[in-house]
This record gives sequence, C-alpha cells and structure tokens, in this order.
Amino acid sequence: MQYLSIFLKLVEMGLFNLKMNNKAKVETYKWYEVEPSPFQLLAQEDQDRLTNNFTQLLNSVNEAVIYVKNVFDFYEYENSQYPVIITKFYFGARENTPGFFNMRDITDPLKDRPTVTYEYPDKIVLSDGSLAKVLVTYNYPDYLPDGFLFEYYGIADEIFVKFKQVDQYKAIKMVSAARLRAESLLTGNRVTPETERKVQKLRDLSTTIGGSARLFEVYLYIVIKGKTNGELLEKEKRIKEMANARLLSIEDPKYIQRELYEFKTSVSAFTSFSIEKNFIDSISAGAFYPFISEDLIDENGVFLGKSNSNSPVVFNPYSRNNYNIVILGESGSGKSMTTKVFLRRLRKKMNIGINGIDPENEYVKDVVAKELNITQVVIKPGQKLGLDLMKFVREGFIDATDAAELIADLYYVPQELRPRLRRLFVSSDADTIFQLIDELKENKAEDLLKYLDAVESPPDSYVYDGIPIDISGNIVFGIKELRNQRLKVVVSSLLTLLLQKKMLSGRQLLFVDEAWIFSEYPAVLNLLQEVARRGRKYGDIFMYITQRPWDVYNTPEGRTILEQAATAILLRQRAAATEVLQKAYNLSQAEIDYLLSANPGQGIIRAGNHKLTLQILVTQEELEKFSTSPAI
Ligand SMILES: Nc1ncnc2c1ncn2[C@@H]1O[C@H](COP(=O)(O)OP(=O)(O)OP(=O)(O)O)[C@@H](O)[C@H]1O
Ligand SMILES: [Mg+2]
Repeated sequence: MQYLSIFLKLVEMGLFNLKMNNKAKVETYKWYEVEPSPFQLLAQEDQDRLTNNFTQLLNSVNEAVIYVKNVFDFYEYENSQYPVIITKFYFGARENTPGFFNMRDITDPLKDRPTVTYEYPDKIVLSDGSLAKVLVTYNYPDYLPDGFLFEYYGIADEIFVKFKQVDQYKAIKMVSAARLRAESLLTGNRVTPETERKVQKLRDLSTTIGGSARLFEVYLYIVIKGKTNGELLEKEKRIKEMANARLLSIEDPKYIQRELYEFKTSVSAFTSFSIEKNFIDSISAGAFYPFISEDLIDENGVFLGKSNSNSPVVFNPYSRNNYNIVILGESGSGKSMTTKVFLRRLRKKMNIGINGIDPENEYVKDVVAKELNITQVVIKPGQKLGLDLMKFVREGFIDATDAAELIADLYYVPQELRPRLRRLFVSSDADTIFQLIDELKENKAEDLLKYLDAVESPPDSYVYDGIPIDISGNIVFGIKELRNQRLKVVVSSLLTLLLQKKMLSGRQLLFVDEAWIFSEYPAVLNLLQEVARRGRKYGDIFMYITQRPWDVYNTPEGRTILEQAATAILLRQRAAATEVLQKAYNLSQAEIDYLLSANPGQGIIRAGNHKLTLQILVTQEELEKFSTSPAI
C-alpha cells in the first residue's frame, strides 16, 4: 500500500491533477517499430549499453508506451506450414523520432487489435472469438534483473508497459514528503523491518532523483488470450508463478478488464480498484529493457526450421561478420541433411555457386545432384586428376612454404626434415611435382625421398598427373571410391586449391563434409582456413561439416576453424564433445545435456550474438530425396 498512500497524499497536496471524470480517454501516440536483438546472451557491458540507451530513451520523452505483441502464425515453406511465434516490438510516444534503437515510423499498431464483444467481470470476449484477460503487475521489488520482461514473451499474447515521467520538481517534493512521513514512523515504538526498508528505499530514491535520474510511474499490463477458459487459466497460472518468483505482485482486476484491454487510462479506473501506482526511478527502469529477441530471423534469409520458442529460424550467412559455417554432430545427427536442405534453399534465395567435397558420395547421387543442380564428379581410383601441387605454386594459389608444409603433412615427413624440405621447395625451379622429386634425387636427398618417392608411383602419381578437371559450374566431387583415407585427404586438399581459383571470382560456396578426415593434417586444416579467409572479401561461404569435433579442436588450426566461424550448427553430440562445446561455444551444462540426447535435425545454432535451440524442419519431398537411412 505504500505507493498508493504516497499518491493519495500527493492528491491531497494538490500536486496531482486528478481528472475525476469517469469517461475513459484513449491515448494517442506516435508509433515506432523497434528491431529487437539478443540480450541474455550478451556480455555484461553490452547489456549495460542497451539498458543505458533505454534509460536515456525514457528520459527523453514525457510519456512512453511499449507494446510487445506475439503473433502466432504459420510459416509457409514449399506448401508445408509450420506454427511459429513472431514477437513484434513497438514504441509509442508523444514526441517525434526518439532516435534510439533504429526505430522505424509506423502507423498505430493498436488499431488492428480485435475488439471487445462481451465483458465478464474477470475476462472479455474478443471479436476474433478468443477469450482474453489482462493481468496487471504492481508493487515492484527493490531488485529486478535486467531484461526480465523477456520471461513473459513465450506465453503472453501482448504486453504493455507504460512509463509516465513525473515532473522533476514534483518528483523531488513528492519523494521528500513521503520520506519525511515515513521517517517520522521510525521514532514510534513499533518500528517494523518493513518500515525500515521503506524508509531506506525512499532515501535512496531521494538521492537518485536529486541527481540526474527521473521518476516514472510505471504500469505493466499482460494480456493473455485463449480459445477456452482452461487455456486462459493455464496461462494465467504460469504468468502469476513467474511474477511471484520475481516478487512482483500481479492481479487480474475485476470489472475493468475491458478498459484495461482497450488501453484507456483513466486514473479513476485504477484508484477506485486499488491498483497501486508504481514509481520507479529511471535507473531502475533500465531493468524493463524490452526489445529482446533471442530469435534468429535474418532479412532475406533461408528458412531452417524453428526455435524452442516456436519462432521461425531464418538464416542469412551474409548477416554475420564472416561467412564461415561449421556443422557439428555425431553420425546420424542430421549434418548432411541440414547441409543439403540449406544448399537447396540458399540456391533458391540467392545467386551463388556451389562447390563441395563429398567423401561419402552422398551429394553426387543422381537425385541429390539433380535437386541441388550440381554437376557430380565421381572420382575413380586410377583416374588422372591433374592436381599438381607445384603448378598451383607457380600459379600463385599457394606459396612455396605452405605447399612444403602441406606435402610434408600428407607424406608424414618428420619435423626435423621439414626445414630442409621448405628450403628446397622455395629454391626449386620445378614446374611440376615430378620435377621436384627429380631435383630431390639430383640432390641425393635420400632422407626426404624415403617419404616423398610415393608421389611418383600409383595411386598418388594419378593425382598429380594429367590435366585438371573442368570446374566451371556448380560442382561436387565424390571421393568415396578412393578407399585409402590418406589419398582422400591428398585429393581433397588439392581439389580445394583448384577450387580456390574459382572462389576468387566471387559468390561461391565451398562445403567439405566428413571433414574429420583432415584432423590429423594441420597443414590441410590451415589450407581450408586460408581458403575461407581469402574468399571472405569475395563473398564466399565456407562450410565445414564434421563429426568428432574434439579431434579437430585438438590442433590450433582446427580450433581456429571451429571457434572463428560466425555460425555454428551443433547437432546431437557424443559426451567426448563436451569440452569443445564448452570452450568453443560457451554452452552451459543444460545446453550440452540437450545436445547429448537430441533427435536428428535438433540442435543449437550459434550465429553472431544469437544462440538458440533449433529444429531443422524438412519437407516431405526433401526427406525423401535427401535421406540416407533406407527406412524412408
Ligand atoms: N531435420 C531432420 N528431420 C527429420 N529427419 C532427419 C533430419 N535430419 C536428418 N534426419 C534423418 O536422419 C538421417 C541421418 O541424417 P544425416 O545423414 O544427415 O546424418 P549425418 O549427421 O550426416 O550422419 P553421418 O555423420 O553418418 O554422415 C537422415 O537420413 C534422415 O532420415
Ligand atoms: Mg553425413
């Protein structure tokens, strides 16, 4: 009751100009739509920046309404409909463009709300046939966590927060009067802890209001809707529980449900029904920072599926600060399916070249290749590939030192021989890798030849010999038939170099599936990372898809790939991945537990500041065409 008594006192003092007419007044505001951003996942300093801006925004207007609206909708993708929730944010004020949070002018968002068709004491019936109820919170506790409103976004249909700035002079007078009055109670003989707390709060308030902070009346209304009474009661129960957990008092005021819903603010409507007024200083008001969405809905993005709050996840790699994507998950978790649907949808959305290394010959299958519109190249054992590393050096696609390191990794040249190999590479006149081997022979470099003479004989010689494959158009290389894993690595890394030529022409995507096969070859990982880094300024997208992330994470080169990708899609994991998930993606134990038992296509997407659980939704057609499991 403390604030009500303060308020009534003010009325007595004539500081508040009560409009005693009962005729409700509809407020008119200038409205802006606000683009939300993640909040809970941000570092403290970034959260502080947002709450400070919010405080400044409130200080800059006399009166403000924040309107948060959940739209329960269906996202349509290729004749399939997915139920989703989209949260929209509006800011209304009487002043012109407040100039914070990239606000966009819009028309009154309240005019499209369903109207009230029938009124019960404790609820209303709306023109869309639903039942609705307005809950009002009051009596704010001393502490509210920043961004606490977000907790209600998953359940509430609408949230209104109204801030009304109290004139500085009035505020100071009002608070000091209330403080003096409360302090006088301290001299009595029945001083309760309650009184002491109240005095302390009022003293604190005096200090802040005396400084640069302002005083606001704050009203928070939560509108819930339901098709049935049961649904309404269930929502009410959950919201009340959440409010109580934060020590917020919450009520569903009877007989004024319609006025509350229609957002008619007549002071009498509140005072006569004992809804206490709430005063909050502008610093504490920062906790009400509302423009939060942990959802990921990028402009011009590709539909991936839905988040745990049932929002669509719409992802555009170009919305991030780099275009590297890693997809991690154990066997059968849905990595390749995710890649295929992503590629398919990306191609429909934008003009981009597709290139891939396919160690399991999954993408080169007719039905997949056709669907993705790619040329499939199935590499056969004994096929001459013309992937001469020395030619790549001469053409400037890799420098001699890196090439020496690559060849050393691929042929297991011991560390102590590597400096010599590098020198030989750098000083060599050879135009082909075979000429280089001849030079080694001339130099009687027997110790190196012991490892490198394999270059000259099959199956390796086939890799280097011949003329390179034409790589124009969308192209995926299936290398499964090269049974030997080392040979797969040799071919993949050289193909990557070959593709790099094309990457420099811009807007190309390169994906590498089953990339764990490279984890023992740091020079290859380094090469992949370099290709990705160089391609960035040409708008190239690099996708690295693998199981066994811990193997990759073991080398500095692999760690760089996993940690620096702006986007990581994490699907079901084995327990061995726990450390990587904690270190590279800062996942909590709960998030890790979720990943340990996820179903195919279920996981977590980390994209820039966003991190949310994700269910990759695939259409029946995609499932049929892209599945690898014979059951379907
Ligand atoms: N989003 C999804 N929705 C429904 N089913 C899915 C989804 N993703 C994958 N699946 C099912 O799981 C199977 C395995 O998926 P996928 O081949 O993509 O796994 P993977 O992670 O690439 O496994 P591996 O590491 O063995 O290659 C698919 O054939 C499909 O039947
Ligand atoms: Mg796979």
